[in-house]
Amino acid sequence: MKCYFEQTNQSHCAQKRTGFSVIISTAKLAQVNNVTNFDSNTFLKDYWQKQPCLIRQFFPQFEDIIDEHELAGLAMEPELDSRIVRYYEDSWQVIQGPFAHFEQCKGLWSLLVQGVDKVLPDAADMMAPFSFIPYWRMDDLMISFAVPEAGVGPHIDQYDVFLIQGKGSRRWRVGKPDIATERISAPGLRQVDAFEPVIDCKLLPGDVLYIPPGWPHDGKAISPCITYSVGFRAPEQSQLTGYLAEHFANHCESTRFSDPQRQPQSNPVWVSEQDTSAIKQLIHEAVDSPAFLNTLLMLLSEQSVEPMPPDEVFTDAITLETFEHNEPLYRLTGLRPVLHPKLTQLLFINGEKVEHSCTDSTVLAELLSKTVVYLTDFDSHPCKLDIISAFTTLINMGYYNFSSE
Ligand code: SIN
Ligand code: CO
Repeated sequence: MKCYFEQTNQSHCAQKRTGFSVIISTAKLAQVNNVTNFDSNTFLKDYWQKQPCLIRQFFPQFEDIIDEHELAGLAMEPELDSRIVRYYEDSWQVIQGPFAHFEQCKGLWSLLVQGVDKVLPDAADMMAPFSFIPYWRMDDLMISFAVPEAGVGPHIDQYDVFLIQGKGSRRWRVGKPDIATERISAPGLRQVDAFEPVIDCKLLPGDVLYIPPGWPHDGKAISPCITYSVGFRAPEQSQLTGYLAEHFANHCESTRFSDPQRQPQSNPVWVSEQDTSAIKQLIHEAVDSPAFLNTLLMLLSEQSVEPMPPDEVFTDAITLETFEHNEPLYRLTGLRPVLHPKLTQLLFINGEKVEHSCTDSTVLAELLSKTVVYLTDFDSHPCKLDIISAFTTLINMGYYNFSSE
């Protein structure tokens, strides 16, 4: 294996921090403190989007899926978004990847690589324990490596994040959301001022810290450490209006405002409440239409994954025969297809709509949630041939294949 970093054990980083006490803001935390007791209902009710929480040993006997040298290898790949954030010569700096070398790893530096779930199946698997949150809300798995004392500084994120501690240990401080004002510390780096922590903890391998959007946080490595961030996404209203615009661009049927019951107006300057309500109603009708639901689902399934179509087109007979040879069918790494209960003959994947004839949406949902599908998963099901046909389409679209490569 190639070693990219010479200075991982720099002596200037050897300052030891020990004995941080865990300051827990709520007594309820104990209920989700341990993976064996982790209860997604309690978590969603008391913490999700409400307050941060520390989940000790969410992953017991945690094993890293990558080391810093392999992470550096990924940071050389042009298709992955990578950056080095460092505090060097008294200033914060961000150096955008891809990297041809790692000479920039100077000072207190972290290397961060986004979207690793799209290239490493093990990384995609790390997101699986969080799938009590639906696929469409999930964004990606970011992996970072930091030398002792390094971090990206105090900041806020717009999205929920689960920070999984890999090798090493890190001190995390989390503050309350109301007080933080963002400033740009360097091009591409937004930070907030120092804050009073409500959580101050030392994370060890397998521990997970959940941080809701807007809560300032600051993680400083205690020893060379790897952090896995399971990130989520949530559309903004402005994005949703963009979805509506896209819907109208793709659907020529569009109803025009009409007012056959109009009454005379004494002064023409007034736009009546009635008129604005009627216009809003037009928008509501578009939003409520089945066609818009289609557009919405396509956009919610969007992942910008590069499809990998087979060299030769599959037929249902080939798909069935390959399954019968005990070949497992693999979902493309990091891909997260979605279904909607009202659109029973459609599935949505990577922003595309796929028609299918499987009438049992429960079995289809079960199969689509798996990263690997075996014939035994649906061999005796009455919809077997419809399922084969749906998978043939997905194979030809480049979203599933019989090779794990
Ligand atoms: C990091 O991994 O260094 C930063 C993760 C985060 O704060 O969201
Ligand atoms: Co963050």
